[in-house]
Amino acid sequence: MQDYRVSLEEIHTYVKNIEDTGKVASYIPELANVNKAHFGIYLNNLKGEDQHIGDYNIPFSVQSISKVLTLSKALQLIGTDVWKRMDVEPSGDPFNHLSLLELEEGIPRNPLINAGAIVIADILVSELKDPKNEFLQFVRDITNDQTIAFNEKVALSEKNTGFVNYATANLLKSFGNLKNDVETVLDFYFHQCALEMTCKQLSNAFYLFANRGNCMRDVAHLSLTQVKRINAIMLTCGFYDEAGEFAFEVGLPGKSGVGGGIVALLPNEFVIVTWSPGLNPKGNSYLGMQALEQFTTKTGKSIF
Ligand code: DON
Repeated sequence: MQDYRVSLEEIHTYVKNIEDTGKVASYIPELANVNKAHFGIYLNNLKGEDQHIGDYNIPFSVQSISKVLTLSKALQLIGTDVWKRMDVEPSGDPFNHLSLLELEEGIPRNPLINAGAIVIADILVSELKDPKNEFLQFVRDITNDQTIAFNEKVALSEKNTGFVNYATANLLKSFGNLKNDVETVLDFYFHQCALEMTCKQLSNAFYLFANRGNCMRDVAHLSLTQVKRINAIMLTCGFYDEAGEFAFEVGLPGKSGVGGGIVALLPNEFVIVTWSPGLNPKGNSYLGMQALEQFTTKTGKSIF
């Protein structure tokens, strides 16, 4: 087993000694209350010999990281029919931009930008009897942790200021790519984004993407093909208009959220999660990106 402890400690020292120029997300007012000084890393090596540093056990808002989990649930439920309603191309645009959606007549570029995730939310609202609870149960099952929950205050805070997401959902509806009503779909979407998890819990949730579709309890949730496709989408679309930069610097499939979390993984080897709430101008964690660049450079562990 490779011992990553030295690398994690070196990275911790490195990030503690550079200025964090990132800014905590404030467009969702509740997220602005988070202390920017938090920093945590959790490395799950799939064999139960995990390593961690700093604030790895403090829950934070997973935000867009949840989009990978809703996509997984939608693929479980309706399989490749998902791709009748969205594409798998990087957008090269910020996560909440609308211009391409209008030009491309209501077909989102991919499931990880907001428009695509809102269509995925619509699929789950159509397919599940009790969408929020059944999705939460899915996350608890794959993570093997019944304590994971939505933060209702964050969900409400986003609902109260979610004007762009309302515009996105309405535009989708106008093109016939939203089957349920806007309010119901966005209620689901705001809740999925308001899921709270620690670095450790997130690493457990993403275990199945590094472990050929099988979760920590060795239960199969996704097929090999589905995992291949989800990891490919994370690599090409997981960081919006910074997906190229993340592949260039880090070289792993991954997903970020405006809560400051980043999950990245190397199939068959590990899942690594960083949390640092200060965001760079593209909405990705400033120190998290650097920590992951250092990790793959020091260990030589990337998909390239
Ligand atoms: O819809 C939003 O704007 C947020 N709930 C999620 C955005 C997000 O996390 C983008 N990722 N970096």
